[in-house]
Amino acid sequence: MYKLVKPLFFSLDPETAHYTVTGGLKRFLKIWGSQKLMKASFSYENPALERTVFGIKFKNPVGLAAGFDKNAEFTQEMASLGFGFIEIGTVTPRPQPGNDKPRMFRLVKDSALINRMGFNNQGVDVAALRLKYFTERNGLIIGGNIGKNKTTLNEDAVHDYVICFDKLFEHVDYFVVNVSSPNTPGLRDLQEKEPLKRILNTLQQRNETHETPKPILLKIAPDLTDSQLDDIVEIVIDTNIAGVIATNTTIQREGLQSQTSLINEAGGVSGKPLAVRSTEVVRYLAEKSNHRFPIIGVGGIHSPADALAKLQAGASLVQIYTGLIYEGPQLVKHICKRLVQKK
Ligand SMILES: Cc1cc2nc3c(=O)[nH]c(=O)nc-3n(C[C@H](O)[C@H](O)[C@H](O)COP(=O)(O)O)c2cc1C
Repeated sequence: MYKLVKPLFFSLDPETAHYTVTGGLKRFLKIWGSQKLMKASFSYENPALERTVFGIKFKNPVGLAAGFDKNAEFTQEMASLGFGFIEIGTVTPRPQPGNDKPRMFRLVKDSALINRMGFNNQGVDVAALRLKYFTERNGLIIGGNIGKNKTTLNEDAVHDYVICFDKLFEHVDYFVVNVSSPNTPGLRDLQEKEPLKRILNTLQQRNETHETPKPILLKIAPDLTDSQLDDIVEIVIDTNIAGVIATNTTIQREGLQSQTSLINEAGGVSGKPLAVRSTEVVRYLAEKSNHRFPIIGVGGIHSPADALAKLQAGASLVQIYTGLIYEGPQLVKHICKRLVQKK
């Protein structure tokens, strides 16, 4: 089915296609009986898929990666595609438009995307309000991915993370501190030891003032060196956060087959070219830390075998974004089925 409609979507510019599909899905799900139909088509439930990770029970280990549902606008619709969890965001304290369009490009020959969205989002208040009214969650786990506004200086970044944390606290199950997007100038400098410790320690202190603290994870770039990854392991353990999401998009362009004009677009590469490196990062972190904290593996999962590779490398859960665009929504069910067969 997806093979039939994919050429139509791919004839649109990627951002237009995104809103055409998500908007269409929203309208479709208002039709009587459509939810049942979606469930029958895309959901795959089996007790063997259930996982308890950082104290949270997931009905299956396949999640939607951050960036797809930045404003918690399509959370229910995306859940209908069978995901075990959905990560909304990245949200920032104030709304911001992001970079000028076009800012998302398809590298079809590479089954990849380049994006330089730049945290376009409607602000944390809008996301929090939408989540507040999304009450029929049926076991769906929702993560809140938080960032800083473009105009906030790095030395003040901690305040932005705290604002987003406080405003989303009642509405999400776990948090992700995003310091790894290549599209907010200087953001990735926050992956350095001192600024990162400051942000994570501040959030943890805040977290502990709540009766039931929420898991906080750190999302990292695939472009970190081994010694920077060693620092990450140390920081995760020292700050006692719940885990790591590996990885965000890459600034590497090596081995890409698409035309040079596309490859030279600024931004982060996602999809197939990222698969090997992100799995390498998962494995490195898992081994170096002696599996002391859970890892969510993300990057270039386009098939059940890709998901298995991340899990075998040490991930407890996986997420997808670009694979959904190239392979279609059946990918979630295919992965789940394969995981059950594997048991
Ligand atoms: C268009 C686009 C927007 C994204 N926006 C975000 C974001 O706002 N926050 C974030 O943490 N990651 C963002 N990502 C990164 C994804 O969550 C994911 O880490 C990355 O794309 C690798 O996974 P994939 O190969 O399955 O796409 C974005 C990715 C894409 C393609």
